[in-house]
Amino acid sequence: MQSKFLLMGATLACLPYAHGLIRFGCSQLVTERFDPLVTPGEVSPHVHQIVGGNAFNLTMHPDNDLPALSTCTTCRFVEDKSNYWTAALYFHHPNGSFIRVPQMANHNTGPGLQSGGMTIYYFQPNGGIPFTVFPKGFRMIVGNPMRRSNDINPTDTAAKATTFRCFEGDDPGSTIVPGTFPPDTFEFPKTPCDAGIRSNIYFPQCWDGVNVDSPDHSSHVAHPVGGFFNTPCPPSHPVRIPLLFIEINWDTRPFNDLSLWPKDGQPFVFAMGDPTGYGQHADYVFGWEGDSLQRAMDVCTGGTGIPWHCPVLTIQDTEDMNNCRQPEKVDEVVDGAYIDKLPGCNPLQRGPAQATMVPNCDAPSTTVDAPVPTEPPAAVNPPWVVCNDGSNTTPLPINPYCSEYPLLTRAPQTQPAVPTATVAGV
Ligand SMILES: *[C@@H]1O[C@H](CO)[C@@H](O)[C@H](O)[C@H]1NC(C)=O
Ligand SMILES: *[C@@H]1O[C@H](CO)[C@@H](O)[C@H](O)[C@H]1NC(C)=O
Repeated sequence: MQSKFLLMGATLACLPYAHGLIRFGCSQLVTERFDPLVTPGEVSPHVHQIVGGNAFNLTMHPDNDLPALSTCTTCRFVEDKSNYWTAALYFHHPNGSFIRVPQMANHNTGPGLQSGGMTIYYFQPNGGIPFTVFPKGFRMIVGNPMRRSNDINPTDTAAKATTFRCFEGDDPGSTIVPGTFPPDTFEFPKTPCDAGIRSNIYFPQCWDGVNVDSPDHSSHVAHPVGGFFNTPCPPSHPVRIPLLFIEINWDTRPFNDLSLWPKDGQPFVFAMGDPTGYGQHADYVFGWEGDSLQRAMDVCTGGTGIPWHCPVLTIQDTEDMNNCRQPEKVDEVVDGAYIDKLPGCNPLQRGPAQATMVPNCDAPSTTVDAPVPTEPPAAVNPPWVVCNDGSNTTPLPINPYCSEYPLLTRAPQTQPAVPTATVAGV
């Protein structure tokens, strides 16, 4: 049993195509309608869940020195003052109301349970392919919030950039690379997933070598040709950058009662009114301190994906990750309670045509000053081990902190309570 858990924790690392990588959890910084890349200076159209350094802001100029402006980060490695964000996920109740689906810690990201957030991977390219880490000011987006159908040529690597995995029991399909069909799907899973749903997101790993950004925040980068691993960059984007890959685990367990599901589909919707899943997208603003990411890429090639195995970076404990927070600055409820519509103006648009913006949106468009929240950050206990204790058939160094958190290393065997009571309210 234990070796199975460990394999899951080092999901990609144990496989023949494995590359060197760093892998780490980041807790939630804030959940709000901010998107400094797409709508700088304005409240954004839909709700995002944001992790990383606390210099995150409504506007983030590429000249901003994020390590200098941040006083903390929600990520395990304190050198990482980057920001990463994706759309929030909501459950659509048959009575028409919505409630945000909590995120939960991934396999072997502990000790301690991160509050919400995501898991971040940076892979070095394999086989000695030369690469460069992201320059200061670099940012990019993958995916398109308006997308509602499988409209990318399946031979394009981009077609598999965003996918979902349905977790059955405690087994996420440990040896299967994310974006493999089956078990993964392009759309939200169509049947209840008894241990939650994971979103898998591959960012582009080829760069034009010149521009830290572009008007659409994606044309300065591209996916390699023929898949994500061991594949060449296109001539248009010849400079290899690390493969940034993120995973988000949603605790859908409180919402798996089929009597609450629509007869003709599934009940989860992204914050932009997307009930399909094709609109999944993610934003990245590079903000590592100095040359810390380069040093990690140079040295941490072991491929275990356990943060404690990358000695050139500094680790903080889960409590410090969870306590790095920002207040929500848009005066509206986005989380922790049923709401009668998705925040912003986001009616459900099922496609297959691209979604369109609602004109003359009357949702709140200004920000307020709010204090940093002081109530303890909420964390969901997932149905899997979050602490790597190193007991594997191929032994890894034992994580010395694991035994200090015995209550957090295994989930309780009971089912979580009803939706209203369990949502990680912030
Ligand atoms: C965000 O930007 C505003 C306006 O420039 C500034 O006053 C504020 O200090 C910034 N917040 C953070 C957390 O950097
Ligand atoms: C829908 O059901 C939820 C859960 O019982 C409840 O909190 C919410 O108020 C209901 N919404 C409406 C419009 O009745």
